[in-house]
Amino acid sequence: MAHLAKIKELKEGQTISIQGWVHRLREMGKKSFLVVRNVNGIIQTIVNNENIRGKLDVEASIKVEGKVKADERAPGGFEIHASSIEVIGESKSDWPFHRYKSVEMEMDYRHLWLRSIKMQNILKVRHTLISSARSFFNKRNFFEVSPPIFVSSACESGSTLFEVPYFGNKAYLSQSGQLYLESFLPSLEKVWALTPSFRAEKSRTNRHVTEYWHLEPEVANADYKDNMNLQEDLIKFMIKKILEERQDVMSEFGDRSEIEMWIKEKWPRMKYEEVIETLKPKFPKLKWGDDLGTKEERYLVDEITKLPVFVTHYPREMKAFYMKVDESNPKVVLNNDLMMPHVGETVGASEREWKLDLLLENMKIHKLNPKDYAWYVDLRKYGSVPHSGFGLGIERVLMSILNLEHVRDTLPYPRFMNRTYP
Ligand code: 4AD
Repeated sequence: MAHLAKIKELKEGQTISIQGWVHRLREMGKKSFLVVRNVNGIIQTIVNNENIRGKLDVEASIKVEGKVKADERAPGGFEIHASSIEVIGESKSDWPFHRYKSVEMEMDYRHLWLRSIKMQNILKVRHTLISSARSFFNKRNFFEVSPPIFVSSACESGSTLFEVPYFGNKAYLSQSGQLYLESFLPSLEKVWALTPSFRAEKSRTNRHVTEYWHLEPEVANADYKDNMNLQEDLIKFMIKKILEERQDVMSEFGDRSEIEMWIKEKWPRMKYEEVIETLKPKFPKLKWGDDLGTKEERYLVDEITKLPVFVTHYPREMKAFYMKVDESNPKVVLNNDLMMPHVGETVGASEREWKLDLLLENMKIHKLNPKDYAWYVDLRKYGSVPHSGFGLGIERVLMSILNLEHVRDTLPYPRFMNRTYP
C-alpha cells in the first residue's frame, strides 16, 4: 500500500507516495531525474519521460508513487523509482531563478525565494529560536503579555521614530515595549513579550532593519546582575534547543563546535571603561564617552573574547533616560549590552530607575518633558520596586548563531529604507 512518507524516514524497497515541488529537473535519454522538495527535505526521483513530457517544469507541485531504492550518489542516500506521477499544480517556464540569481533577485522575488533550501533551513531555525524562548519563560513562570504598537512617545531616541497619521493626530510605531512592560510588574511580577519593533534607520548596515522582532522580559526585584544571568541562561537554552531539535539542518551552517563552546563556557562581563582600554591599541582614537560601533564591537567579540561578552556600566549620557545611575559612580549606568560573535550587539539591557525623584532628574538631563511620559512617571508614584529587563533582537541572535553575513537572511520579508515590497 502506498502512503505519504516523510523523506527522512524512507526504507529500501518501500512503495510510497510522496507530495512536493520539483526542485530541480534534468532529462537524460528516456528518463528524467527530478529532485523533489517538501518540508522534510529533498529526494531524487527517476521518472519515465513519456509520463511527463511537456507537462512539467521546475516548481510544479506533484505527487509521485514509486519504490524506494538506496543509492549512495543520491542526496540523502535514497531515490524513488516512480511508477506514476501526478501534476497537481503546473509551473510556468519563466521561473525567475532559472538562469541566475543575485541578492536583488532574492529580495524582489522574496515570495518565491522562501522556497530555497537556504531560506527553508533558516526559517526552521528561526521557528525553534522563538519556540524555545516561549518554553524557557513558561518554565520560569513568566507571563507573556501584549504591549501596544501605536504609541504616543519615544522609548529609545526620537531620531528613529516612525510617525504615522492617526485620525487627525500623530502616533508613532513602537521602538520597544519596555515602558509598557514595566507597568505590568505590580500585577504579574515577571513578564515578557515578543513584538515587532520599528526603527527609522537611515544607515545601511548588515545588521539594521526598519522592522524587527523584539523579545523583551521585565522582572521585578531583579538587579542588573540578575538581568545578565537571565540573558545568558535564555540564549544558552535557545542554542541547546536548536542543536537538539534542528540537527537536520544545522549541518548546513558549517562547524557547530563554536556554538557548542558558547553553551559550555561562562560568558565574560567587562566594564565599558575596561573595553575602551582593551580596544585602544587597535583603535587609537577611541576615548571614554565614544559609542562602540560595529567595527569595535566585532573586534572585541571576534578577536578578543571569542565568546559572547556583556559590556556594562556605559556613560550615562550615551544611554536612555530610564536606566539606573550607578550610585557608586554617577557617571555611568547599571546596564549591559550583550555582544555576540559575527554581529556585535544583540541585546540592550538595564536596571531601571525606579525612584520618582531620580527618574525626574534623568529626564531633565535627557531634555525630556515629564508631561509626555505622565503615565510612566505614575508607575514611580504608587509602590515602585527595583526592576530590570532587556531587549533581544531575534534577527541579531539568529545571525550570530548561524554565522550569517547579513540580517536580510534572518527574515522572510526584511524591511529597509528602500524596501517594502513584496
Ligand atoms: O538597545 P535597544 O535600543 O534597547 C531597547 O529598545 C530597550 N528598550 C530594550 C529593553 O530594555 N526592553 O534595542 C534592543 C535590541 C538591540 O540590542 C538589537 O539586538 C535590536 O534590539 N535592534 C535591532 N535589530 C535589528 N535592526 C535594528 N534597526 C535594531 N535596533 C535594535
